[in-house]
Amino acid sequence: MKKIEEPQFDKRSIEEIIALNGRKPGALLTILEEIQESNEFKFLDREAMEYLSDRIDIPLSRIYSVATFYSFFNLEPQGKYTIVVCRGTACHTKGSKNLLDQLFLLPKCKGAFESGESSFTTEDREITVKTVACFGQCALAPVVAVDGVIYNNVTTGQIKAIVKKIEEERDNENIKL
Ligand code: FES
Repeated sequence: MKKIEEPQFDKRSIEEIIALNGRKPGALLTILEEIQESNEFKFLDREAMEYLSDRIDIPLSRIYSVATFYSFFNLEPQGKYTIVVCRGTACHTKGSKNLLDQLFLLPKCKGAFESGESSFTTEDREITVKTVACFGQCALAPVVAVDGVIYNNVTTGQIKAIVKKIEEERDNENIKL
């Protein structure tokens, strides 16, 4: 069975990010973005935010409020690949629920959004699935993004193919429909 690495808190890269951006409150958003980007699992962990709070003298509560306000910040470890399914009205009408249901078939992901979460990550940390309210491409519904690349008129067959490719080519950086 594949060993799951525990996320590490990297003080040195946080120090470098602070040195580059300064300690003014106006730099907080950029600092948080860079800390998340530097984290192997693309998230802001609690220890990193506590450390940052001490180092730049901004209350932890303020850092949390910024991290929770912007949807691009993650407070949980993310998968290697991210699939975002649009759940807006146009996409829903064109079957985006079926696409999501297909992703719920991933191991241990059944009912993943039932407690109000807006994302889930597979236990092996390969895939994170998220939903979005609208990609602004309603005429081409249903719309899905895979690692930031937008795909239109997506079918359940294509979602199955994406998941199969991810499972088969875990080291391949570019997943194509
Ligand atoms: S509702 Fe899905 S792109 Fe607008």
